[in-house]
Formats: sequence, structure tokens, C-alpha cells
Amino acid sequence: MSDSSPQPTAAFDFDHPPRDPVETCLAWFEEAKRHAIPNPNAMTLATVDADGQPSARTVLLRGFDAHGAVYFTNFQSRKGRAMLAHPRVALLFFWDILNRQIRIEGAITPISDAESDAYFAQRPRESQVNAWASAQSEPIASREALELRQATFLAKFEGVPVPRPPHWGGTRVALECVEIWQGHPYRLHDRVQYTRLNGATIPAAWRVNRLCP
Ligand SMILES: Cc1cc2nc3c(=O)[nH]c(=O)nc-3n(C[C@H](O)[C@H](O)[C@H](O)COP(=O)(O)O)c2cc1C
Repeated sequence: MSDSSPQPTAAFDFDHPPRDPVETCLAWFEEAKRHAIPNPNAMTLATVDADGQPSARTVLLRGFDAHGAVYFTNFQSRKGRAMLAHPRVALLFFWDILNRQIRIEGAITPISDAESDAYFAQRPRESQVNAWASAQSEPIASREALELRQATFLAKFEGVPVPRPPHWGGTRVALECVEIWQGHPYRLHDRVQYTRLNGATIPAAWRVNRLCP
């Protein structure tokens, strides 16, 4: 981090870490939002497919609490198929300007239809239509072909609310392993890893380890 970089303010004492990582994650998400970072809620989502092939892409965090981290996607996409084959994922946040990283690993479950419906309902209409128009991860011949699909669905839903596609919705990642990372000069970074000890039970019990950088 250069001298002119904004200094993080949400205190985290790596020698005396809190017993639970949730409040820290929330504080760090809020702090990222306060800086002029485009998409402070962007995270890398890593999946493993049926053949054991890992893949990663960016998605947006849309919810976070003790029950887990929520993102929305197309369940028929490449990641959707991988999530079905191996319902465990890893998430990674990196805020360069704060020299911070959060890693999350855990089992995934779909959120309820009601929760996905509620989220979908407040999306811009164009995004709702495009969730139907885009067969995410499938080949398409051209931009023109994509726009034609968009026009088809715009016409189909003209004058009526756009329903949520059944293949699109939210996924919750259980907080089974959470790592809080603060960078320091010359690689002497601070890391604390939280490993969940009591499955999905709330409140969670955690093993807390400081890790070498
Ligand atoms: C900043 C950013 C945010 C994104 N947010 C999402 C998202 O929330 N959900 C999603 O399905 N794709 C999102 N994408 C697109 C994905 O990175 C990816 O291209 C898409 O989901 C297809 O991935 P797949 O073929 O591995 O399934 C986002 C991309 C970027 C760059």
C-alpha cells in the first residue's frame, strides 16, 4: 500500500481476534463501500465441476449474515452445473486499496423461492428480461443474435411483470471457513483463519488460528 492509500479504520486485533468472524466481515464490507471502489461487493467464486476441474469468475455479494454469503446466478450456467456436481464453493474478496482480503469456503444451498422472487422483483426490468434472454455460458453466434433474443423476451413480457426464470436464483454459502487477511509491507501480513466446529448450528462455534503469511 502506498503512503497516499486510505488507511483502513475498522479495527481488527489479529493478536486478540473476535471469537466470530461475521461482524468483522460486515465491517470490512461496509468499509470497502465507503471507498471509491467500483463494485466493492465483487468477489471471485470458485467451483469444481463433475470432472474435478476448478473454475473461477466474479459475482456480486447480495447478502451476508451468520447464515452465509448470498449471490445470484443462472443454475444452468457452467458454474451452476458445477455447483450441482459439487455443492461446495470458495469465495474471495480482494480490496487492493485497503490491502485486504477475505476468503470464505463452505457448502452451498439454494435460498428459498420466496427470497429469490423478492430479489428478482426489485431488479431493473432490463435485467429481469435479460435473465431470460441469456442462456448463460452457452455459445451464441453474434451480438445480433443475443439482441434478438432480448427483443423476443421484451415482446413476450410486454405489459406484464417479468417472472423469475426457474433456472435463476440465489445461493447461500455456509460460513465453514473464513479467513481475514490484512496486508503489510515486505510480506509480513496478518492472517486469522476461522474454522467452524458445529456444522450449520447458529450461533456458530469457531476454532481460531493466526496463520503465517
Ligand atoms: C463485476 C462483475 C460482477 C458480476 N456479477 C455476476 C453475478 O452476480 N452473477 C452472475 O451470474 N454473473 C456475474 N458476473 C458474470 C460472471 O463473472 C460470469 O461471466 C458469468 O456468471 C458466467 O460464468 P460461468 O460461465 O462460469 O457460469 C459478473 C461479472 C463481473 C465482472
